[in-house]
Amino acid sequence: GKVAVLFGGRSAERAISLKSGQAVLTALQTLAVDAHALDPADADFFAQLQTGQFDRAFIVLHGRGGEDGVMQGMLEQLGIPYTGAGVLGSALGMDKVRSKLIWQGVGLPTAGFVTLRGEADLTAAAALGFPLMIKPAREGSSIGMARAETVAELTAAWQAAAQYDAEVIAERWLPGPEYTCAILGEQALPLIRLETDHVFYDYDAKYHATTTRYHCPCGLTAAVEREIQALCLRAFHLLGASGWGRVDVMLDAAGQATLLEINTVPGMTDHSLVPMAARVHGLSFEELVAAILTTSQP
Ligand code: DAL
Ligand code: MG
Repeated sequence: GKVAVLFGGRSAERAISLKSGQAVLTALQTLAVDAHALDPADADFFAQLQTGQFDRAFIVLHGRGGEDGVMQGMLEQLGIPYTGAGVLGSALGMDKVRSKLIWQGVGLPTAGFVTLRGEADLTAAAALGFPLMIKPAREGSSIGMARAETVAELTAAWQAAAQYDAEVIAERWLPGPEYTCAILGEQALPLIRLETDHVFYDYDAKYHATTTRYHCPCGLTAAVEREIQALCLRAFHLLGASGWGRVDVMLDAAGQATLLEINTVPGMTDHSLVPMAARVHGLSFEELVAAILTTSQP
């Protein structure tokens, strides 16, 4: 059938989506799938989608408008099955405040936090104790994030993050190391351990730095790795996510995992994390893309 590959979009992660989407489009064409690029930032996007007679959509949009349930709802209205999480899982997965509240509600480990909606909330955030990690509630690729060690830094970091979202979270700092768990269908793929010489795994460490190291296999014992994979799968399903995605966690020195967030449309450039884990699992990039396409719903 005919597949619409949605990438680009208008979010702050547009540049990453263009890379992810191009890689997916090329892979689908290699697989002889009748795949067509569509960009929601184009004026005639909606008309193209409506009249294109697509059998399904492969969503490779990162951030708001594409990863947060908006596009998913539109595709449902148009009757076009799509890859990845549905409306609810996408919306919750994009929103760090609601993700964390749901995990806390069932006792899953996530860092203590305060939601910042205005200057009055900074006092409660400072009371969590420094250092703090400041994040826009609904952003990706570490955009708008900063570490704060003082009230002055907290104020500046909140102001910077608030440029991206009216809701910001101040989270207790976790030293890491950071691990990530790719999910394909109902299965967790091998964990990857991230090693950065930056203060945290920021935008530059993710996409530009040559000093970032990726370890997969990650070096944990098989038993600990299985435990963390099970936690990640549970955290993913609790938010209503499905199909494929990635769950990010921090480990402490004792091997205890703390959930950071989920990504319902993770990066898919040929050096991204999900393709890396898939390769260790024995799947080429093309095989991964083919597998994701078969998870499309409803
Ligand atoms: N938000 C980026 C694309 C990721 O999670 O990979
Ligand atoms: Mg993310």
